[in-house]
Amino acid sequence: MAKTKSVFFCQSCGAQSPKWIGKCPSCQEWNSYVEEVVGKSTDTRSSIRLKATPKTISEIEIEDRQRAPLLDLELNRVLGGGLVPGSLILFGGEPGIGKSTLLLQLALMQLNFSVLYVSGEESEEQIQMRAKRLSYDNPRCHVLMETSCEQIIGQLEAMRPQVAIIDSIQTLQSEHIESAPGSVSQVRECTLQLMKFAKETHTPVFLIGHITKDGSLAGPKVLEHMVDVVLQFEGDRHHIYRILRSHKNRFGSTNELGIYEMMGAGLRAVENPSDILIDSSTAQLSGSAIAAAMEGGRPMLMEIQALVSTAVYGTPQRSTTGYDLRRMNMLLAVLEKRCGFRLGMKDVFLNIAGGIKIEDPALDLAVITAILSSNEDIAVPRNACFCGEVGLSGEIRPIARLEQRIQEAAKLGFEKIYISAFHKQKTTSDIEVVEVSKVEELFSQIFA
Ligand code: TYD
Ligand code: MG
Repeated sequence: MAKTKSVFFCQSCGAQSPKWIGKCPSCQEWNSYVEEVVGKSTDTRSSIRLKATPKTISEIEIEDRQRAPLLDLELNRVLGGGLVPGSLILFGGEPGIGKSTLLLQLALMQLNFSVLYVSGEESEEQIQMRAKRLSYDNPRCHVLMETSCEQIIGQLEAMRPQVAIIDSIQTLQSEHIESAPGSVSQVRECTLQLMKFAKETHTPVFLIGHITKDGSLAGPKVLEHMVDVVLQFEGDRHHIYRILRSHKNRFGSTNELGIYEMMGAGLRAVENPSDILIDSSTAQLSGSAIAAAMEGGRPMLMEIQALVSTAVYGTPQRSTTGYDLRRMNMLLAVLEKRCGFRLGMKDVFLNIAGGIKIEDPALDLAVITAILSSNEDIAVPRNACFCGEVGLSGEIRPIARLEQRIQEAAKLGFEKIYISAFHKQKTTSDIEVVEVSKVEELFSQIFA
């Protein structure tokens, strides 16, 4: 008599255990273990019949899978140049950031596609109101209010749209699973069913997903492994700019980045991000420096603003918007210890214009320039920009993709760019490239 074997799996990270445990020791998730039957322990070797034969890479026949170009050029680029048939795309972001807006807008502007937009969150009237604001209309876009996963698959099979959008995966419920919508096993089961539909019919499916407070996609981590593409929509809700990033892409690079502006009539692509990130009204003021940064594969120039003032309270305050506070503290320590600037009793505030968060070590040089400029109360020449990492001994270190940054700066009409003196490759460019090796050297060049 064959014996069935069951194992408890963590629905969040996939770890397994022979018995139920309350908290997963590997991913720290609570109450995520579910019993699963892993198969009968018979002698499998004699009973298996082989179906597929292994092939060499050159033997594989490529199906002609044409990417469908999207009219939304930012999304098109982030996806790697179009929508791949049968791809499952997870679209995550905080509530209210504009996920539904972006995908409804895509459905309505893409007149060459028939689209089924399934919503489990909003009523038909709400969707209609939103569509009116967007001022696009696609007669081949259909809307369906439904949360049953089996019903949705049935509707998709019957209608066979060219693109399906599910808003959101956390509202779906499969009748095969008893737990509530949004629970780990529901999300996983519904995603599996939709994945099966996508692969069998070669229909691209977008799944909108919510994000928890700590920034990860709500639901199982395995969800991210199941889908082909993971996109994340981020930004500050109080600012109008939104950034679309890809965290995973089986059909393209994850380096691409899309930037949108939330307008009264939907999201508009920002073609030249540097334009919005540099404010010309602060030109003559101290405490502002332009950084030649890279975000994803995209060079952009952005304004770093700093305010240094004498601390009114006993302990000086340090705060940053859009920049890592610990990194700023490190730079302040470098300025204090290595270069002798007395900033210990000063309040320091730092701000990246436009509400954009960025992690690029090349910002360091502009950050310290802005801080020194505010401290000395001398404005930085507006025709100059900066890129370089600052090391712990105050040395200016080389950074990646220097050429691209210089080109972008030249394109935007800057006349001077300050870079590290330690770049091995010498660059040729139309603008003046100033090499600095130490923070003191930068200081004497600009403020002396
Ligand atoms: P929404 O797409 O509902 O967010 P999500 O689906 O990610 O939860 O977007 C909500 C916000 O976007 C809402 O606060 C209003 C704003 N918005 C605009 O500013 N302009 C518009 O044209 C639309 C449709 C929404
Ligand atoms: Mg929504």
